[in-house]
Amino acid sequence: MKTLYVELGDRRYPIYIGPGLLARPELLGSHIPGQQALVVSNTTVAPLYLEPVRAALGGRRHEVVILPDGEQYKTLDTLNEVFTALLSHRFDRNCTVIALGGGVIGDLAGFAAACYQRGVHFMQIPTTLLAQVDSSVGGKTAVNHPFGKNMIGAFYQPLCVLADTNTLATLPDRELSAGLAEVIKYGLIRDLPFLEWLEANLDALLARDAAALSEAIECSCRNKAEVVAADERETGERALLNLGHTFGHAIETGIGYGEWLHGEAVAVGMILAAELSARLGWLYREQVDRVRRLLERARLPLQPPPGLTPDDFLRLMAVDKKVKDGQLRLILLRELGRAVIASDAPPRLVKETLEQAL
Ligand code: NAD
Ligand code: GLY
Repeated sequence: MKTLYVELGDRRYPIYIGPGLLARPELLGSHIPGQQALVVSNTTVAPLYLEPVRAALGGRRHEVVILPDGEQYKTLDTLNEVFTALLSHRFDRNCTVIALGGGVIGDLAGFAAACYQRGVHFMQIPTTLLAQVDSSVGGKTAVNHPFGKNMIGAFYQPLCVLADTNTLATLPDRELSAGLAEVIKYGLIRDLPFLEWLEANLDALLARDAAALSEAIECSCRNKAEVVAADERETGERALLNLGHTFGHAIETGIGYGEWLHGEAVAVGMILAAELSARLGWLYREQVDRVRRLLERARLPLQPPPGLTPDDFLRLMAVDKKVKDGQLRLILLRELGRAVIASDAPPRLVKETLEQAL
């Protein structure tokens, strides 16, 4: 097992990464302060992994809420089901909400923990690659609104993240690829050696080689933990973690939540960001092709979905959490391995990039 820490002073917390962690009750148990726990999971993950979690909770009083599976259920209505469970079981302020699942469950359960009685304990047990490398770390919690993705939420850190890499064995291939998009993101924004490592090891990752997956998860979490420790509430550097996300969120909102996976939309968003960076003279064409090739090898989509026009994109991109005083800010690549926040990308170039891609 590898242990990394998100260094946030007295809210510092560990990320445990390794095989078989669900079978180690002491890891889970030592991070539950009280006697009450609510496990939040969904109809796909609960049949696979709820039992070991229940066993690890030992004699503690625990209840379970099982939500429908899918991004389209990451809503205020579903969130209310978690509040109803907490209230109907009379859980108090010393209870712990445990998210068992992918990023949808983690984001939603985390927001429930942030709101219930103005904040109760929270723990993340991520079971997708995407959640193990990104969403479970850093404390962003949210639900979607029909007008915009992750628009209703809070920063709320967990007490620990427990990433049992054995859970990835049951993950569908398409979900594995979606997780790889966020892994590749770290290489592109701030870690060129990791990008090169990914180019050399992508086949092993696709073949679910345990050592390669562990290395990729650890390196991703190390990058994310560093960024979050430096800028927890995204006043600056943390925005770089959103490479591809402004375009990607426009895709997810535009075609309807759950049609494309989040990682798929981010992959196309990263290609659009690389193309725009090339138009600005920051990347050579060969470098854009290198990004495209890696994402293609990861079996990710390379083109935006049909049906969205450049104007649709621009309208949807205007509802983005990085918009400041009405001005769009995009994460672009100054070079491979170095992302920047660009608030002055000429709208003409943004539109041309979209027109060419569409
Ligand atoms: P997801 O939570 O929908 O999980 C993907 C699918 O895999 C679901 O059907 C799920 O039930 C299933 N699944 C989960 N674990 C499984 C397992 N071990 N075996 C078999 N099936 C399993 O999607 P995701 O890709 O994990 O997360 C995407 C969400 O994360 C989006 O809502 C996105 O906005 C959010 N996100 C948040 C952050 C953050 O910082 N908070 C970062 C990135 C993404
Ligand atoms: N996934 C982006 C962030 O955590 O900031």
